[in-house]
Amino acid sequence: MNFTLRVWRQDGPETAGRFEEYPARNIPDEASFLEMLDLVNEDLIGKGIEPVEFDHDCREGICGTCSLTIDGVPHGPGRGTTCQLYMRSFREGEVIVIEPFRATPFPILRDLTVDRGAFDTIIQSGGFISERSGSAPDANAVPIPKTIADLAMDAASCIGCGACAAACPNSSAMLFVGAKVSHLGLLPQGKPEKNRRALSMVRSMDEAGFGNCSNYYACEAVCPASIPASFIASLNRQYAVAAAKETVGATL
Ligand code: SF4
Ligand code: FES
Repeated sequence: MNFTLRVWRQDGPETAGRFEEYPARNIPDEASFLEMLDLVNEDLIGKGIEPVEFDHDCREGICGTCSLTIDGVPHGPGRGTTCQLYMRSFREGEVIVIEPFRATPFPILRDLTVDRGAFDTIIQSGGFISERSGSAPDANAVPIPKTIADLAMDAASCIGCGACAAACPNSSAMLFVGAKVSHLGLLPQGKPEKNRRALSMVRSMDEAGFGNCSNYYACEAVCPASIPASFIASLNRQYAVAAAKETVGATL
């Protein structure tokens, strides 16, 4: 297959970016989007042009490292990660526009790579659970209703890719934070720190410059882990309860 790529090139965080056009020729339709970029980069290197820098790691939809905005959509068409997008999803001869994730708290480092360290800071602000880890307990030692266990597992499937914030017109990270706050807060092992965790993660999110949720549902539409927006409502409830307790001086 043959395509024309319009790729965002930017030499560094402080320099202005620009689009450049490159041909992508003889691309197998079974190639992933990242493999297609590998082939284009080999071609660029052969011509003495700097290859396009982009983030990737597992290439299996697990790690959340890949982060491209393709034709205006974080991770591109479909609802998977960029690394799980295949070139057969595009039409022969198509012009494909490739940009980095766009969100102010994710500064562009170079070309298509952005710094998503703000997500790490939010996770760190959540702290540890006080439950002793030790050896694995019997599976039935702490009974957890299946509906709660399923919900916690759904929340835990967030891979921290940042597509939700990149898709949101407010650069809101509330889907990410909602998932992270919920997956521990729903389980007995994570409950003791539930209120403190919700307060500090939301405040860390605000400090990093992420916006508030305005119910666009753009986050839910692009999330490769299918995290539902109901976790945002849950986050708002958890935060409201924790803030009220803090205001009246109750034990968090
Ligand atoms: S909520 Fe979805 S889109 Fe947002 S970081 Fe997690 S996996 Fe990525
Ligand atoms: S490279 Fe790991 S999810 Fe895409």
